[in-house]
Amino acid sequence: MKKRDLLSLRDLSRDDIQGIFALAGRLKREQKRGIAHRLLAGKTLALVFEKPSLRTRASFETGIVQLGGHAVFLGPAEIQLGVRESPADCARSLSRWVDLIVVRTFSQNTLEEIAHYATVPVINGLTDLFHPCQILADCFTLLEHRGKLEGLKIAFIGDGNNMAHTWMQAAEKWSFSFSLACPKGYEPSAEITRVAKENGGRVVVTNDVAEAVRGVDVIYTDVWMSMGQEGEREIRRKAFRGYQVNAEVLALAKRNALVMHCLPAHRGEEITDETLESPHSIVFDQAENRLHAQKAILVWALKGMKGSRVKGRKR
Ligand code: CP
Ligand code: NVA
Repeated sequence: MKKRDLLSLRDLSRDDIQGIFALAGRLKREQKRGIAHRLLAGKTLALVFEKPSLRTRASFETGIVQLGGHAVFLGPAEIQLGVRESPADCARSLSRWVDLIVVRTFSQNTLEEIAHYATVPVINGLTDLFHPCQILADCFTLLEHRGKLEGLKIAFIGDGNNMAHTWMQAAEKWSFSFSLACPKGYEPSAEITRVAKENGGRVVVTNDVAEAVRGVDVIYTDVWMSMGQEGEREIRRKAFRGYQVNAEVLALAKRNALVMHCLPAHRGEEITDETLESPHSIVFDQAENRLHAQKAILVWALKGMKGSRVKGRKR
């Protein structure tokens, strides 16, 4: 059987995602009732990270322990990918000891090289291009709040970055509409946008915040400077002025619109404190659901999950 990697959302079928959401929901409900699961008893998860992390690291480490396994964290100082050791040798060595690898790298190519050489499943814990675990947790959170994804209008205000790219891939899977407003020069990859549209994604890219946000159900944002772009701080601060999620922008959306952010947030830049703390904000539900969604992703990667079903329409 081919190993199951999750390098981008394109690695998952609608059935896989429905199964992941169904299992995540069950694990969440049962965890809250104190029911323990040992679905991955004795399994070891390695976390290979080139960048900092709070949510991804803590939720994967906690998740594998809750499923009966344990984690080994290998940060930038330990591995020094491509300096101390090649990604290929790192992947082949780790595969002799551990059962799964979560990777956070700058380049998607490094992740793909690790996946190519690893003989165990590899999961994308964020690259410069994609963050599939985040968007799966976010879609699961939206299902909890709205009951369905189909028909929703989602606006993304900010950089055409890894989060924006992953939303566009998600728009290939569900018939929600996705409108992205970014400053000129910060548009998402033309190729990812083209493929999303070709595959039926209802995606609009604009430089006009009001156009993107008017009448939407969800406003999503992310930092103006992603990890690795710290040197562009001043340029980006200027470029993104006017692309802040605040009370004025929120007033253009539906009255009960939800505000989402993958976190970490830079309050006062991409979002105001007031909006992040408002009743519209579901950012900590998103953060919590990283745990539940990723536990299901780990089970999918090692065991598959034929037969699980949640609401949704197959394209
Ligand atoms: N949202 C997210 O991935 O957070 P971390 O960078 O803290 O892992
Ligand atoms: N776009 C951000 C997301 C952090 C979760 C980054 O890559 O730093």
